[in-house]
Amino acid sequence: MTATLMDGNSLRDEIIAGLATQIEQMGSPAICLATVLVGDDGPSQRYVKSKHKKAGEAGMVSRHHGLDADATQEEVEAVVRELADDPSVHGILVQLPLPDGLDPEPVLDLIPAEKDVDGLTERSMGRLVRNRPGLVSCTPLGVLRLLEKYSVPTSGARAVVVGRSTLVGLPLSLLLNRKGVDATVTMAHSRTADMAAVVREADIVVGAAGQARMITADMVKPGAAVIDVGVSRTEAGIVGDVDFDAVAEVAGWITPMPGGTGPMTIACLLENTLTAARLQGL
Ligand code: GUN
Repeated sequence: MTATLMDGNSLRDEIIAGLATQIEQMGSPAICLATVLVGDDGPSQRYVKSKHKKAGEAGMVSRHHGLDADATQEEVEAVVRELADDPSVHGILVQLPLPDGLDPEPVLDLIPAEKDVDGLTERSMGRLVRNRPGLVSCTPLGVLRLLEKYSVPTSGARAVVVGRSTLVGLPLSLLLNRKGVDATVTMAHSRTADMAAVVREADIVVGAAGQARMITADMVKPGAAVIDVGVSRTEAGIVGDVDFDAVAEVAGWITPMPGGTGPMTIACLLENTLTAARLQGL
C-alpha cells in the first residue's frame, strides 16, 4: 500500500482526551448530550450506544430516549420539545433516518440552534451558508479535522464531493470552499455525467454517496487524498464508497473503513456538545 492511512480512531481518542481535560478544568459541570432514536434498527442502535460511551469518556453525561418504530409524529415531536425546554440538556441529536412515515424536518426544527449538535436545523444550515458562527454537522467537521491532522494541502486544491446530502455532502462542500480551507469544490451526484472523469480531476475526493465501492482505483488521481464517508449495508456487511484495497495503491492518503470518518463523527459531536454548553452559558 502506498497511501498514508488517515487514522480516525487515534485522532478521535486525542480529541476526546482534550475534551476531558477541558471539562475537568471547567470544574466538571454536567454537560449533557441527549439522543433520540426511533425504532429498533441494529446499526443505528450501535451508533447511538457508542456516542454515549464516548460521551462518558469525555466527562459528559448523556441521556437516551428510545421510541418504538410505530411512534407517531406527535410522540417524537413531544420528546424533542421536552428536551428543547430542559435547561439541563445541552445538545440534542435525533438519529437519522427516522422510520418511514415520519417527517424529519419538523422534528429537527424543534431543536434550538444552540442545542443543535448535528448542525441540521434551518438556522444552523443558514448560518453555515452565511458564514456565521454556529454548530456545524459532525461528519463534515471530522473530514476537515482529518485533512488538517494529516497536512493534506487544501488551498487551491480541487475537491470533489460525491453525494449531496444535507447531513454530509452539502455542508462539507461549503466547508471546503470556506476562506482558510480554500479548495475549489465540485459537488458530484447520481446524475453527474462522466463521474470517473470528474473524480479523476480531484486532489481531494470524498465519497459520500452511499454506493458500495463506487470509487475505484482508475478514477483516482495518483497522490490524491481519498476520504470515505459512505455507508452501504450489503450482504458482506457495512461497506464504504471506496474500493479500499485498490485505491490505497494509487492514493496519497486514504481513510480506512471502519476506523476513518466514523470515529471522527463522534469526536466532533462531542466537541459540538461542549461548544453548545458554552453557548448556553456554561
Ligand atoms: N445517521 C447517520 N449519521 C448520522 C449523524 O451524524 N447524525 C444523525 N443525527 N443521524 C445519523
